[in-house]
Amino acid sequence: MQIAIDGPASAGKSTIAKLVAKKLGFIYCDTGAMYRTVTYMALKDQLPLDDEIAIMQHLAKMVIRFAPGETEQRVFMNDEDVTLAIREPDVTNNVSQVSALPRVRTELVKRQRDIAATHDIVMDGRDIGTTVLPNAALKIFMVASVKERAKRRYKENMQKGITTPLATLEAEIAERDRKDSHRAVSPLRQAPDAIRIDTTDMSIDEVVARILDLVAETKTR
Ligand code: DC
Repeated sequence: MQIAIDGPASAGKSTIAKLVAKKLGFIYCDTGAMYRTVTYMALKDQLPLDDEIAIMQHLAKMVIRFAPGETEQRVFMNDEDVTLAIREPDVTNNVSQVSALPRVRTELVKRQRDIAATHDIVMDGRDIGTTVLPNAALKIFMVASVKERAKRRYKENMQKGITTPLATLEAEIAERDRKDSHRAVSPLRQAPDAIRIDTTDMSIDEVVARILDLVAETKTR
């Protein structure tokens, strides 16, 4: 079974997707982490972020791998653990540019479909229900107000020792929404058959319970 969870930055997708996957015994694939890993590589290798050919050459030699960790899933670029590095502001502020490159998207979409082909999966991102897994059994489009999303990211950052001010996060989230929704290739939009969940005033447990109900309903259909 494939479950697609899409929505804007910091709407709670990854937190929820991880918990839903755990409850169901499915694997979890964070596609944002894949775009972040490519961005991290481009910055590290000092590639111009609009040089699609160079980025593609490096990406062809790069394995992006998810592995279970003690507390959470770890992300590897070849043998380097990049779990924390890909959350740094430098990557966050440049990932929209890299994820707008059409060939990068084609390659990552292919890798995402390969992962989904062999596993029951919860996959989160921006274009899972529209492009990556158009036949997913259940599609969720998760939203929350910009203010609420900035607050959540602020709390998350604090735990990681990242100290970006709340107002800056709010501005960054609004800007990322704008870029993700207006890019030419696979812009963020709700699939016609996706179910919209506004998590602004919902607890994590409530959102998880709602999705598990929807999974149960989907199974009886
Ligand atoms: O979910 P996130 O913030 O980790 O995503 C990082 C960036 O990657 C975000 O700016 C949008 C982009 N992205 C995308 O274009 N397509 C996806 N399927 C997932 C993420």
